[in-house]
Amino acid sequence: MSTLKLAAALILAATAATAASGAVETPMLGKPISLADLAPWDLSIGPDGVGLPAGKGSAREGKQVFIDKCAACHGLEGQGQPADRLVGGQGTLTSDAPVKTVGSYWPYPTTLFDFVRRAMPLNEPQTLTSDETYAVSAFILAANGIIKPGDVMNAKTLPKVKMPNQGNFFIVYPGNLK
Ligand code: HEC
Repeated sequence: MSTLKLAAALILAATAATAASGAVETPMLGKPISLADLAPWDLSIGPDGVGLPAGKGSAREGKQVFIDKCAACHGLEGQGQPADRLVGGQGTLTSDAPVKTVGSYWPYPTTLFDFVRRAMPLNEPQTLTSDETYAVSAFILAANGIIKPGDVMNAKTLPKVKMPNQGNFFIVYPGNLK
């Protein structure tokens, strides 16, 4: 048997042995993650709201959260500076100077909850309770005139909020949401 044929035969034999034993070849680094350790990372909320936690809050409650934990970077009314503007800009998207905010641009209210919960406040992410996250999301939605200050946001009501720019987005692979 030539060296080349021998090498090929050995590779085939090795592959067959691996397949037969069901063993998966890995670099043998790390250890399997437990479901408990995974939970804090399993945060994504899609447009349908699946995965939203228990809890609730309205803009009235969210106003104080916003003043205490957000206004330093986003302005007392969410008008922005030094960080992103969160309020206003509706009707400007097709103009020469579009103002993209949660209110004018974002298609889904659930994205607001998702983003605030995972990333804000910038200096202390993932410190808000679920009630605070619902309330401060409600505050931003109400400041944009999308809901009323007394409207209570929770896992049922938040996904039903219709964002003004929602119709200009579409889901390319709807099957993947399931
Ligand atoms: C220390 C400053 C700081 C604080 C405090 C802060 N943010 Fe932010 N925020 C930022 C920065 C910077 C960005 C832009 C982040 C990026 O684009 O990745 C941002 C982005 C956002 C956005 C996305 C805006 C957009 O249109 O892309 C939202 C919504 C938001 N913040 C909400 C909040 C809320 C609610 C709070 C309070 C609970 C908060 N932020 C507190 C600095 C801050």
